[in-house]
Amino acid sequence: MEIHHIGYAVRDIVSSAQAFRDLGYKESSGIVDDVARNIKILFMKNSEGYTIELVEPVNERASVYNALKKNGEGPYHICYIVDDIEHALDELKKKKYMIVCKPQKAKAIDDKLVAFLYNIRVGLIELVER
Ligand code: NI
Repeated sequence: MEIHHIGYAVRDIVSSAQAFRDLGYKESSGIVDDVARNIKILFMKNSEGYTIELVEPVNERASVYNALKKNGEGPYHICYIVDDIEHALDELKKKKYMIVCKPQKAKAIDDKLVAFLYNIRVGLIELVER
């Protein structure tokens, strides 16, 4: 599966953006307030075409809040592109992937559907519909 982005849990999106600029990443979006998901999001890209997503929780209801509390700042999911998210979820469920977040619209990715799954051998992954 093609990788869409690597998601980073951050405490302060503005400070982290500066740190990633120092690694050669440039903003590919503005900071998006995703009120429905209780997060702020910023996408950045480097000259090799790799995309990262900085995710800052705005309160403890955000799903990234626990990842941040437990592991501190750093990468916490890889997002893969799929053609049909419901079909991909059905297939992965048969292979010991647990749905932790059902498909919902992601404001920062043009309201495309995203879902999160967890596998004990892999950790957290995200799917985004093409
Ligand atoms: Ni993501």
